[in-house]
This record gives sequence, structure tokens and C-alpha cells, in this order.
Amino acid sequence: MTQISFPHQAAAAAKAIKPGFIPHVGLVLGSGLGGLADLLTDATIIPYDELPGFPISTIQGHAGRLLLGYLEGVPIACLQGRVHYYEGAQNDKVKNIVRTLRVLGCEIFFATNASGSLRTDVEPGNLMLIHDHINMQGTNPLLGPNDDEFGERFVGMENAYDPALRKILHEAAKEIGFSLPEGVYLSVLGPMFETPAEIRAFRTLGADAVGMSTVSEVIVARHCGLRVAVVSAITNLASGMSDEQITHDGTLHFAGQATERMTLLINGFLRKLNV
Ligand code: HPA
Repeated sequence: MTQISFPHQAAAAAKAIKPGFIPHVGLVLGSGLGGLADLLTDATIIPYDELPGFPISTIQGHAGRLLLGYLEGVPIACLQGRVHYYEGAQNDKVKNIVRTLRVLGCEIFFATNASGSLRTDVEPGNLMLIHDHINMQGTNPLLGPNDDEFGERFVGMENAYDPALRKILHEAAKEIGFSLPEGVYLSVLGPMFETPAEIRAFRTLGADAVGMSTVSEVIVARHCGLRVAVVSAITNLASGMSDEQITHDGTLHFAGQATERMTLLINGFLRKLNV
């Protein structure tokens, strides 16, 4: 007898709770951005511990629940809480979460996160649209045998950050009335923030933002054919770029400040999707 994989088990559990609901967008809410979930209408809340293969999140600002509901009339599977490598080796959990969205029916994977800016022109409280990444986590969620059911062994990463979705995001930002700089997100393992020397090195490599998440999710999402969009809430200038000490509390504070813009942007984006 073949074993039913966790993404199918988790999707079955979610479907049993909200029968007939097929989400179009899987939306991941990053550090301090969880409040966005309150805007979902007709929302059904499922704690991660009711979803086989899902993680129990340990980080302040990450609630650990899946919400199924609507934003701007678009059916959404909203993940409040993600996994980070700094919590321990979690490849299976990253794969299970993202693939569950796929099995539920999502076509778009939209991730938000909090990150440090390597650019003085993109200050805390602003948003940055991610158009590429540099994986400096020293690991990869697709290590090990390939799960043929979800995708092929080798995954192309050109245009991983969907150009058509980025265009819609720019249009939405323009209509709302703020500029949306694009940049390259560099992912580190964490949990410590970087040294100033690391930040200087990362700038030389071509990074515009630095953070401890998202890249592993994007890799799994591309492997299983989801279209990807990522927007960072800039919570601080990166290490060595200002006199301010970088702290998790500061991250949550500025993520909170960016929530209003993030909310407007996501709503504007969804209105333009024509689902
Ligand atoms: N570095 C890494 N991760 C982060 C940062 C940072 O400066 N800000 C928010 N998350």
C-alpha cells in the first residue's frame, strides 16, 4: 500500500473542515505582518497542529495557523507563521507547507517577509518587491530523493519571481500612490543578525535586502509549479548602515508600520487578478 504524503493528508484535513473551498493564492504572512489575516472574510481558522506534517512555530510574531477565506473576493489560503532553518532542520516542514497549498489548488504563492535593507534609499517601514534571490543558507529544501509527484529533479530558477505578477504589483502600487523598488533578497541562516563585514560582502554580491526566510519556500514553490511573488517589509537598515541596534522587537515594530502599505498592496494586487 502506498503511503499518502503529508501534503495530501493536510489538504484532506483542511478540505474536511471547509468542503468545496479551492484557494487561488497561498499567502504567507511574515514576522509582524500576521495582522493581515484579520482582513480575510468568511475565514475558517485551522491551527497547524490539526494539519499533518505542519510545524509548531516557536517564534514571537508567528502564530502557526492556516486561514481559508477571501480577500477582495479571491479565495486565499493564508499561512500565519512559517518555518525557519534557525529553528532546526525543517526541510520536510517547508516542503509540506508549500505543497499543501499546491494540493489545495493554489496557483500563486505570495510570500511576505521582514528584511533588512542594504540600500539607503529604501528605509524601514517601506516595501521592496523581490525579483531574484541569492541563497546563502548553505542548504536546500529539495536535498534528498526527488518527490516526482510534485516536480522534476532539476528546477530552473530564471524568472522564479513571476514577471507578470510583478507587473501587476507595480501597477497596484502606482495606483495606491507609492513607489515599489525592486531588489534581490539574500537569505542567511540566522538566527543572529549579520556583521557589518558580511553586509559589505553581500552588497558586493548584489543583494538589496537580507533576511532569514522565504528562499527555501520559493524553491519548493517553483519545484511544484506555483507562480511566485514576494514582497519584503523593510524593518531596518542592514548591520553597520546606521547607529540603530538591530533587534527582533525593532523588526516587529517596523513590520507593523509597513502593514498598512502591505495590506493596500495585496488588496490592490488581488483586485487586478481577475480570478
Ligand atoms: N538581517 C536578517 N534578517 C532580518 C533583518 C536583517 O537585518 N531584518 C529583518 N530580518
